[in-house]
Amino acid sequence: MCGIVGYVGDRQACPILLGGLRRLEYRGYDSAGVAMVMPDGDLAVYKCKGKVDALEKYLDGKATDATIGIGHTRWATHGEPNDTNAHPHYSADGRIAMIHNGIIENYRVLKEALQAHGVVFRSETDSEVLVNLIEYIRTTEGCDLAEAVRRSLKRVVGAYAIAVIERGNTDRIIAARQSSPMAIGIGNGEYFISSDASSIVEYTQDIVYVGDGEVAVVERGKALQVFTLDNQEADIQVTRLDLSISDLERGGYPHFMLKEINEQPRTIVDCIRGRVNPDTGQVILSGIRDNIDRWLGARRVIFVACGTSWHASLIGKQLFESMCRIPAEVEYASEFRYRRPVLFPDDVVIAVSQSGETADTLAAIALAREAGAFVYGICNVIGSSIARGTDSGTYIHVGPEIGVASTKAFTGQVTVMAMMALALGERKGTLSAAQYAEVSRGLLALPDQLREVLSHSEQIADLAKIFTYARNFIYLGRGYNYPTALEGALKLKEISYVHAEGYPAAEMKHGPIALIDAEMPTVAIVPHDSTYEKTLSNVEEVKARGGKVIAVMARGDEMVRRIADYVIEVPSAVECLQPIIVSVPLQLLAYYIAIYKGRNVDQPRNLAKSVTVE
Ligand code: M6R
Repeated sequence: MCGIVGYVGDRQACPILLGGLRRLEYRGYDSAGVAMVMPDGDLAVYKCKGKVDALEKYLDGKATDATIGIGHTRWATHGEPNDTNAHPHYSADGRIAMIHNGIIENYRVLKEALQAHGVVFRSETDSEVLVNLIEYIRTTEGCDLAEAVRRSLKRVVGAYAIAVIERGNTDRIIAARQSSPMAIGIGNGEYFISSDASSIVEYTQDIVYVGDGEVAVVERGKALQVFTLDNQEADIQVTRLDLSISDLERGGYPHFMLKEINEQPRTIVDCIRGRVNPDTGQVILSGIRDNIDRWLGARRVIFVACGTSWHASLIGKQLFESMCRIPAEVEYASEFRYRRPVLFPDDVVIAVSQSGETADTLAAIALAREAGAFVYGICNVIGSSIARGTDSGTYIHVGPEIGVASTKAFTGQVTVMAMMALALGERKGTLSAAQYAEVSRGLLALPDQLREVLSHSEQIADLAKIFTYARNFIYLGRGYNYPTALEGALKLKEISYVHAEGYPAAEMKHGPIALIDAEMPTVAIVPHDSTYEKTLSNVEEVKARGGKVIAVMARGDEMVRRIADYVIEVPSAVECLQPIIVSVPLQLLAYYIAIYKGRNVDQPRNLAKSVTVE
């Protein structure tokens, strides 16, 4: 949520800030702004409601020849999206400007205290309170900006990644973070700041991740310095980011979402590379191998996740139960953190997150750590907070996912979970050699099968055109494909704004069957698996009530073809891997319905890619 960028060096800051904001727009696009210290020392702040395009127009003709600046793209939390609430915010005396990602929880108390000292606020945001607190401390306590930031943050409760500049100082940005991501790119005599390291990879691949409760002094011509809130100098570790600029571009596709859907045959190859031996089928995952005692001694496995990652976790639960015979639970991180869950030191808590920055999942991890559980991460973003804050983990390695609707991360997450269950099941002796071989062969077959699914994209686009009128959808699936139904429905909701519900097929008759009529299409997932006959009966029940059925079925299934109104054929896979195949046409169906409805699929309304606030 919210993207922040900063630059100090010898180049013009403004184009770098705008370019960075464009790459970060997936994090929020309610408003955008930049602040710069001009060569004469003046502080210039430009901001407006809307996307980065609107900001660029607004900047037209304005003086922007600074070599230091900060920028922000907002996902609104406190205060509606408008020009005043847009970032950067500046202190009442106009001396310092700040960008902020996160939430200052005790802002009301701080605001009242500052108001009592005569500070007048312009916006409704919590961020404006922080920038004024910093300035108040700087002037009343007579310290420099870095010290004022440090002292202010000691009084703040909440999450933040901030960058601050001050009038008269053309060399220095002060940056700090707590529970919100922040990376500093080290260039040749220049520094780049961003809430997502991938947005600055075109300038440098040498990245320092600022740690929780750390303040960084980023100064032209000087070595980077990082301090803790207790004023201790912190160690600086430079990480080399292995990303290329083409990973961050649309590569000829009209939308990132479509690019990412089409990348899946390759991303699965990247995900299993070096983990499944193509000759022997042997699966080796260092996160299992190196912690085998914790895994073998696990009383339970508890998945914590949100959204799509939660759906993948529902599949993970079935994989672990069936292949490893370990009791497994799946929790919404946002619920888990506010209960008093019963946790044991011999539990394994698996945090699943594409971004690795989801605030609720991070909070759930903290709870698990307190209980002494072993915490394992399944993340995509290298170096993300969850990846760094867990005891061990496995990256899904699907490359940057920029479309707000998660697609390739879901298939990568399920693939990793299947590999984990195989590796552990083998060690526990809960899998026969034949089962092991079948699933590992199934993993190796996925890329070709996904290519086959994608070759039917045009047919799915035609189907989407037929159903663009529908105002409600129901998605049905059973077993491993019940989570796939949930995921298909979520994709449709979030990018087309059409109401859709996922349901376990057999549960339909306990209520939702009342909704069935000719106006509400049912997407039924009916592959050749152990629930085939039963799901088919559920499809018949829909048809008997005049419902229209789009069936996702095994290639060549004449029985389903006779019953359903429309079919999407997919190759058959091992039952536990079928969701990876089935989810792809559901992603395409949602994509094309959204396109025909004229939606902005990469930036759907009200959403942001990673939810770094509660
Ligand atoms: O980055 P995470 O996997 O932790 O994100 C979790 C959810 O916010 C995310 O999956 C969200 O539901 C997506 N928009 C779904 O497409």
